Amino acid sequence: MNNTNRKIRFGIVGTGTIAHRFAEAIQNVTNAQLVAVASRTKENAERFGDEFNVPLRFDSYEKMAASDAIDAAYIAVPHSGHIACSCLMMNHGKHVLCEKPMAVNAAEAQEMFRCAEENNVMLMEAMWARLVPGTLKMLELTQSGLLGEILGVEGKFCYTMDEDEMDHHVFKNENGGGSLLDVGVYGLYFASWYLGNKVESVQATASHYNDVDNHTCVLLKYENGAIADISSALLLRKPNEGYVYGTKGYARLPRFYAPQEIEISLNNGEKQTLSVPYAGNGFEEQITHFSECVLNGLKASPVVTPEQTLYIARQMDAIRNLIGVVYPQDQ
Ligand SMILES: NC(=O)c1ccc[n+]([C@@H]2O[C@H](COP(=O)([O-])OP(=O)(O)OC[C@H]3O[C@@H](n4cnc5c(N)ncnc54)[C@H](OP(=O)(O)O)[C@@H]3O)[C@@H](O)[C@H]2O)c1
Repeated sequence: MNNTNRKIRFGIVGTGTIAHRFAEAIQNVTNAQLVAVASRTKENAERFGDEFNVPLRFDSYEKMAASDAIDAAYIAVPHSGHIACSCLMMNHGKHVLCEKPMAVNAAEAQEMFRCAEENNVMLMEAMWARLVPGTLKMLELTQSGLLGEILGVEGKFCYTMDEDEMDHHVFKNENGGGSLLDVGVYGLYFASWYLGNKVESVQATASHYNDVDNHTCVLLKYENGAIADISSALLLRKPNEGYVYGTKGYARLPRFYAPQEIEISLNNGEKQTLSVPYAGNGFEEQITHFSECVLNGLKASPVVTPEQTLYIARQMDAIRNLIGVVYPQDQ
């Protein structure tokens, strides 16, 4: 069939916060459609199905995996469930778009890519922020040399969970909890987009809540002398912003990892603000990209690559080693 007429039929695994965002976004995408949702309970599957008019509702993840009605699954469960849900889907021949961080550690990520290869399906980490117009524009600007040589990056993704949410899986060690994996991952990706992967040394310190990190600060020093300063928190709010510093000027990015506005300030005094809005809620671009890859027969995204997912997973393993966060999955 002509690819222009084809739509990737998605099923969502999980019915929580991010599943809702995905279900809203896919309605604005032309090469994909939401045909199924799977929950651990019938009630949640029905509620979600009613809310988004999803034709097929499964009361188990296994039942959806076995269904011929979907081509791809979007994994929207806590981090600790990513490997099991992704492999379940891939072992049934489904392509997988898996929420970030794709795995709790690099060993799991490697196993997931092995499973994708074995089943000849596509697996991509849902690093939606790499695909939004603001990131593409920033990459174009930095590559054009506008800011000169990039020698510094700063990114703070620090928020506060409410007091009545202390039972949330982000605070649970067995779920791969902690700020680094939850939101620090964005800062690490952000640094890699503008500074590359030639990291010479990593320093990190963290405050802990029980056995997970609730506030983590990381300094990455690169071979060319550049430095990235990345922080993440679950119980401390900081301005959610980032900077990319070059020898000719800098960019300030509100919501740095997926900016909709770019404020350029050059050393010669010139200033400009660029508006770079999402197509919808920010997920449309990644759904379109993933579906296009699948329709073109790719088994990996050329943009959100397996190599980069593994690189960041290893970096997070190394940082956890420095801040003393160990998960049962590490054993
Ligand atoms: N890309 C982004 O911007 C973004 C933002 C937030 C979160 N995320 C990622 O998305 C994933 C899910 O986060 P979320 O905020 O959507 O979580 P959430 O609101 O708690 O939803 C998770 C869903 O997973 C299912 N589930 C399966 N096993 C579970 C368990 N042991 N505990 C709790 N729920 C379980 C549940 O659905 P059923 O009971 O219906 O099966 C639940 O509704 C995480 O990996 C997170 O890092 C990404």
